[in-house]
Amino acid sequence: MIRTRPATVLRSSRGLFAASSTISHRNYSTLPLSIPVTLPNGTTYDQPTGLFINNEFVYPKQRKTFEVISPATEEEIAHVYEAREEDVDSAVQAAKKAFEGGWSDADPIVKTRALTKIADLIEEHAETLAHIESLDNGKSLQNARGDVALSANVFRSSAGWADKIGGKVIETGNTHFSYTRREPLGVCGQIIPWNFPLLMFTWKVAPALVTNNTVVLKTSETTPLSALYICKLIQENNLLPPGVINVINGFGKITGNAITEHPTIKKVAFTGSTATGKAIMAKCAATLKKVTLELGGKSPNIIFDDANLETALQSAVAGIYYNSGEVCCAGSRLYVQEGIYDEFVAKFADYAQNKVKVGNPFEEDTLQGAQNSLNQLDKILHYIKLGQDEGATLLAGGERLPQKGFFIKPTIFGDVKEDMKIVKEEIFGPVITVSKFKTVDEVVRLANDSEYGLAAGIQSEDVNKCVDVARRLKAGTIWVNTYNDFHHMVPFGGFGASGMGREMGEDVLNNYLQTKAVRTAITQK
Ligand code: NAI
Ligand code: MG
Repeated sequence: MIRTRPATVLRSSRGLFAASSTISHRNYSTLPLSIPVTLPNGTTYDQPTGLFINNEFVYPKQRKTFEVISPATEEEIAHVYEAREEDVDSAVQAAKKAFEGGWSDADPIVKTRALTKIADLIEEHAETLAHIESLDNGKSLQNARGDVALSANVFRSSAGWADKIGGKVIETGNTHFSYTRREPLGVCGQIIPWNFPLLMFTWKVAPALVTNNTVVLKTSETTPLSALYICKLIQENNLLPPGVINVINGFGKITGNAITEHPTIKKVAFTGSTATGKAIMAKCAATLKKVTLELGGKSPNIIFDDANLETALQSAVAGIYYNSGEVCCAGSRLYVQEGIYDEFVAKFADYAQNKVKVGNPFEEDTLQGAQNSLNQLDKILHYIKLGQDEGATLLAGGERLPQKGFFIKPTIFGDVKEDMKIVKEEIFGPVITVSKFKTVDEVVRLANDSEYGLAAGIQSEDVNKCVDVARRLKAGTIWVNTYNDFHHMVPFGGFGASGMGREMGEDVLNNYLQTKAVRTAITQK
């Protein structure tokens, strides 16, 4: 058993996973603001259930809750409270007050200390956080541990930027003194998805705070738990003034929409589907909010004849089965050069079928855990059927595991045509297509033939070819002889329909700053 829930909480229907309009909201005014949850490793911790506003966990005005489940068991973990428009407004007012009340001018040392301490706490609570993440999202514990480690690094690295953000003196001659300042935007709305709940929280919150902004962040409706846990750590250790960070649970069309419409919010940072990203950007036009978007992808991973086959195999596997394939930059289109095609594809299919362990996320050697929701499972199974209907050949997988939980076997499609939907559209699961190519020019053309441009992989031992192809591929990240290989100082973000703006590294700071130019006329003496 993985949960503890108060006797007053009834089990809700699976309707949560259908369109949000079918969710049955219920009033559970007796649900405490914190409940004990027992993790699969036997540890019991206190899980906050409320909205985190002004450094306190509070009830929403309407006191509605929604169910949070474990995708690996389909069992309930907890209920959490749902924010509606009026609660979004409370969070925004708290963030505005914190911004105007001092955070907009917070001293660099204050920010360094706070963000460093958050990094320390993430490391101290790493095992609990990894277990919460795995339980809530379905991902394997080994993947969740990686997310936690990168999250700590992002906070620690962001702390280091605090005293390095500044403008320039601009030489304009003796008549004037001209300089620029880099100033915060104000209250930032942040909307994150369910595939990396803790990591996306970190990628959004750390750079916003170090640039003196305040935050209202909405977690995904299927994965609210780890962000609330971090808020508890922030609260217990008194790390930030009230209102600097506010975290609310809720659904896209209600809570998310209230963020995009709120006139006080100056910027929206979003990670999620391209369709929702477009809708958010259109909404933000009404109040002229700045927008950064990290959206979908259909990234090519290219394996040349001269690749080290073992390295290339590991890159292909990490490219598609890491995080159960629920990765915006997944290497979901594999291009293999003709000289090694048969040998490589046979090896890859064998590996997918026999060496990628799928199932209980908490077993140490499980690579691929559960898909995040019934919706996502259905979407992936729909694409697998579509691939077969389109005439592609299943080389591995292609079905759900015959057990409880949303598990899909690692799947490979061969004999694909470039205009098939399974080659064109984002599936967001452990499903990859394999195509054969002859020349460099041909594969560059095929790789770039996508509306997306989030990432691409190149597997080759020829450094000249790697540098040349890396220049020619249209994508925000190029991985050479590796894949899905993130670093907290390396910027990440998309070309084209994959979005705008960059996260991590120095680039992300630009998303949260605006330049003020000061030009002073000098009286000549
Ligand atoms: P989504 O993009 O609709 O949801 C992501 C976040 O946006 C969630 O927090 C959601 O509550 C919020 N949201 C939804 N509609 C909104 C609206 N109108 N206004 C403001 N916020 C809104 O993605 P969803 O439905 O969870 O997944 C659908 C597909 O999106 C997946 O199958 C996958 O292909 C893609 N996706 C891509 C992600 C990425 O990292 N690029 C992450 C999650 C999903
Ligand atoms: Mg969940």
